[in-house]
Amino acid sequence: MKKIIAVDGPAGAGKSTVSKIVAARLGYTYIDTGAMYRAVALKVLLSGKTVEDVTQNIDIKLDESGKVFLDGHEVTKEIRTPEVSRGASDVAKFGVVRKRLTELQREMATQGKVIMDGRDIGTQVLPNADLKIFLTASVEERARRRFEELKEKNFAADFEQIKKEISLRDKQDSEREIAPLAQAEDAILLDSTDLNIEQVVEKILQLAAC
Ligand code: DC
Repeated sequence: MKKIIAVDGPAGAGKSTVSKIVAARLGYTYIDTGAMYRAVALKVLLSGKTVEDVTQNIDIKLDESGKVFLDGHEVTKEIRTPEVSRGASDVAKFGVVRKRLTELQREMATQGKVIMDGRDIGTQVLPNADLKIFLTASVEERARRRFEELKEKNFAADFEQIKKEISLRDKQDSEREIAPLAQAEDAILLDSTDLNIEQVVEKILQLAAC
């Protein structure tokens, strides 16, 4: 069984949903690196301090159940707002932030049996991962999934607006200078546009077993 699994891909491709399920099935730890960039963004927004100042003195913890703690306070829900999504993509351009979070992420993976998702896991954070997946889906499909998710939670949702925001984040994440969103040379491309969650999970489990 592959001990370290890296899952990268654009916003809304289903990385966290499938990674969580794969982790549960294999008895692995799931590490959501996007939540860490979101926590940095939240702290910048709340404190009004510079990205550099915030990064120097920040405590981010992820627990086994998926809860996120920023400086000892739970922020699991607060980091999911559209404002924080945009902020996370903005702070992710800073070298100081990437360096600090990459160190933390590598530390978290040292015990093995982990599945880590993000944008640069296969290329930068864990280049020696045993299995690398690049999970993608069309912009239309990713926007449709996000739209359905918001509707289910009874949140107001505008499909065209969601599509615009997803496209903007794709562009920002893949065009930034440091550690942009990219498929590692040895990553396996998985297009989930026409697959359901269970089909993607099955595919990853098969790949993890060989
Ligand atoms: O996966 P997510 O949508 O929660 O990530 C939020 C933002 O964080 C994303 O737009 C880009 C950034 N990010 C990153 O640059 N590198 C990672 N490994 C994970 C996320």
